[in-house]
Parts: sequence; structure tokens; C-alpha cells
Amino acid sequence: MKIEFRHEPIAQIVTSALVAFSFEGSPASSGSLERLPAESVGFLQELQSAGELSGKAYECTLIHRPPGLAAAKLLVVGAGKSEKFNSGQRRRLAGAAARYLKGRGVREMAWVAHQSEPECIQTVVEGALLADFDSDPYKTERSDPRRIDRLELVLSGPPSVEVEAAAERGRILAEAQNFTRHLVNEPSNRMTPKLLAQQSQEMATRFGLDCQVLGPEEIRALKMAAFWAVAQGSEEPPQLIVLRYAPPDAPETPLIGLIGKGITFDSGGISIKPSESMHEMKTDMAGGATMLGVMQAIAQLKPRLRVIAVVPATENMPSGKAYKPGDVITSMSGKTIEILNTDAEGRLILADALTYAKRLGCTVLIDAATLTSAIRIALGNTTTGVFGWNKEWVERVLAAAASAGEKMWALPLDEDYRDLYKSLIADLANTGGRYAAAITGAMFVGEFAGDTPWVHLDIAGTRWSNEEKSFLAKGPTGHGVRTLVQLITNIST
Ligand code: BES
Ligand code: MN
Ligand code: ZN
Repeated sequence: MKIEFRHEPIAQIVTSALVAFSFEGSPASSGSLERLPAESVGFLQELQSAGELSGKAYECTLIHRPPGLAAAKLLVVGAGKSEKFNSGQRRRLAGAAARYLKGRGVREMAWVAHQSEPECIQTVVEGALLADFDSDPYKTERSDPRRIDRLELVLSGPPSVEVEAAAERGRILAEAQNFTRHLVNEPSNRMTPKLLAQQSQEMATRFGLDCQVLGPEEIRALKMAAFWAVAQGSEEPPQLIVLRYAPPDAPETPLIGLIGKGITFDSGGISIKPSESMHEMKTDMAGGATMLGVMQAIAQLKPRLRVIAVVPATENMPSGKAYKPGDVITSMSGKTIEILNTDAEGRLILADALTYAKRLGCTVLIDAATLTSAIRIALGNTTTGVFGWNKEWVERVLAAAASAGEKMWALPLDEDYRDLYKSLIADLANTGGRYAAAITGAMFVGEFAGDTPWVHLDIAGTRWSNEEKSFLAKGPTGHGVRTLVQLITNIST
């Protein structure tokens, strides 16, 4: 999608579709419709009187050959109640417009900016680009790629340097988030650990990051027995993907470690999952994909800060070689783990990945993982669960989420939960039972962070949207990418 600025008088703008929004109450003359010439507003008043324009959120009214405008079409998007309007809503409106138009073969949209603050421009670009993503790349019948080719931002004057930078930031963030969505969307036969590593390598080359991929021999030589245990049942070789961003002018510390769960397919292993929704487990590498998206964004935004991403990638499969309930494993950290359920595999690969990130010198550890179904019961599909012993870092993540427009909520950790995952035979058991399962899963991972500040994001609920929204396709969400990029930019400034 090309992103451009325009600042001619609105009446004179020649484009396929001019887009403006307005609020409930006075849908013909509020919001960015205020910038339209009187003739257009008069016409819209008639629609309002006829009850055809309500301003209700996401209502789309398309007017062909709109009076008083040179544009071929005018799309009026309802913005809902003006008291409730915020930047998240603006992102969604831009998305609703983009999806409405591209569904009708319109490839170009000119967004009439209501306000030209950099932040507003950034969210409009994000909304349009995120809405342009579709989750059906393997449908063969669709000849029309249904894409918005050009987004024009209609300002009242030439864009400032800040506004241009904001549009660019919006593009970088949304493209990174869409990259994550693409990785999550791919089925496991097309996103094996090796293919995920290959995609990481290609992304790294394109954006100038350092990428190192360790294979089975290296993983074993490093004594990553917890990671290995999960991988051993699969025919696909595991890969440890390591991406480094280290600008020359960045201080030595902090060194941020981003660890993402990269299970390219989670069958449950010997503790096999029911078949009903097992296909959803192609998304079990969403945490890893999140970190890859974050790295793609920061490679372009160039904060003065060092960041390493570590993504352990493997399948979790049942086979004659698979690990079994009752097995005891000595993790890379030296801690021993009794396997009670081979479906609690995410925490095992994260255990060794965290140990490895610490060995690389990371001074802060952030992990993202589709770790538990319990988090979906607790918070549903809209809100990511945030966990950590270090209050300051948890607060930083929550603050970043709020400004990035992603919903996150902190759940408690407590020493008292430790008893739930103790083992008779080893240091730890890999499950803590049904109660507080999102918390015990998080705490298990935290055991391997040691004293290093650590925050865990459980994205099992938010990785995927089961509903088609007017502003966003059903499917992978890329939830978490914008928050972590925001966090990193906040730290670096
Ligand atoms: N990948 C799953 C969690 C998951 C479930 C992610 C649904 C997305 C949607 C994870 O590996 C898992 O199987 N967790 C188990 C742990 C249990 C055996 C302790 C769970 O939460 O049921
Ligand atoms: Mn599992
Ligand atoms: Zn899993």
C-alpha cells in the first residue's frame, strides 16, 4: 500500500473514494465531515433526515458522484458516540473503511483527517494496513487480490516532519504485525521449524538484523534437554532462532531478551489433544511470530537499545521416539523436571530458551506464548494475560499496551501457588493441575528467569480472532507486537 499526503481543498480532490467519519447525534455534520463543502453537507443532511445516516459505529454509507466533490465516491463511516471516541476507535474506523471499500473493488482511499496530530495519522495508517490483511491466501477461486493499493491522507496543509514520521511509524508497525499474522496463519505443513527459521533469516536479511539458527546437534550440545524432550517425537528437526539488534551507539545495558514460544504444531504429544480443534494448534508458534514481528519493526525504527530475540521452534508430536509422562529431564539450567503431561510443552521449551537468553547476557526477559487454555477462560480472546514478579516491569508492559491500543491485564503470582507444581521425584513438575493453570504455567516459566526481571505474556486467547470484524479479518491478530515495540521505544528514550 502506497501512503501519500494531499492538502488541496477537499472539493477538488480527485480520487476513487474520499472517506470521512461522523458521530451519532449529528451524523451529517460532525467529525471529519465538518471539513466537507456545504453542498456535500446539505446532501448528507437529507440522508440524515431520511434516516439513512445514523453515525452508529462502523455504519458505512457509500455515495456515488457525491455533490460538491470531485471524488468519484464518498464513504461516510459512523464513529459512534463522540464521548467514547479515542485513538483505538480511529484505528478501527480506518480499518472499517478499508475493508468496506476493498470488498467492493475500490483500490484507493483518501482519508479526510479530522485532526492532524501525528498520533492520529499513525493510527489511521495502522488501521488501514491491518484491515488490508486477509486470512485466505490459499483460496484458488479468487482472481481479485482485494487490496487497497493507495492510502491518501488529506490534511489541511502540507505535512510536518512529525506527521510524516508518524505515518511511517504506523506503516512499520502494521506491516510488522501483519508479518506476525502471516506466520501464525500458515498451516504447520507450510510453517515447519525449518521454514520458520528460513522466514526469520529472510526477514533479517531484508531489514539488516543478525540471524543465527541452531539445529538439532547444537541444541543437544548446549544441553537443552527440556527443548529436546519436546522435539524428539517429531520428524521435523527443531531450530533455535536467534535474532540480534545491536546499534553501534546503544549502551551495553539493558539488553532486552524477547523469547517466543515457537511450537509449529501442538498435537499434545503422547498426552494427545482431542481431535475436535486440534487444527487450531498450527497457531502455537504465535509467541515466536510476535517476537519476529517486533524485531522487524525495531530494525526499521532503530531505537538506541540492544535487543535479542530467541525463538525455540519445534513440533510437539506423539511417536515411538516421543517423550512420555513420568519422564524426568535435566533442563539446561540444571533444574530437573518431571513430565506429568506432554501437552504442557510450551513451558519446557521456554525454560531452556530463557536460560539461553540469560547466557547471552540479557538483563531483562520478556516472553510471549500461547501457553494455557486457562487464560482463555479467564480473559477471553480480547485480553492478553501479563505475569511477572517485578512490578516495575509489569507496569511498563501495561503502560505500553495502553498506549499501543492493545488490551492486557495483569494476573497475580504468589509463592503459595508453588506447591501446585512440585514433583515427588524431581525439582519441578511440568503441570500444576486445573486450578490457577495460567498462573502456575507462568510461574513455571518464571523459575528459569531466576533473578533477572521477567514478564510473561500469555497470548493463547488473543492470538486469534474467531469473529470477522468490520475492521479486521477473522484469524490471526498479531496481538502483542505493537505493545512490545512501544515498550522498547519507551525504554530507549
Ligand atoms: N498450546 C497449548 C495452549 C493453547 C490452548 C493455546 C488453546 C491456544 C489455544 C498448550 O501447549 C497446552 O496444551 N496447554 C495445556 C497445559 C496443561 C496440559 C497443563 C492447557 O492449557 O490445557
Ligand atoms: Mn500443549
Ligand atoms: Zn502448546
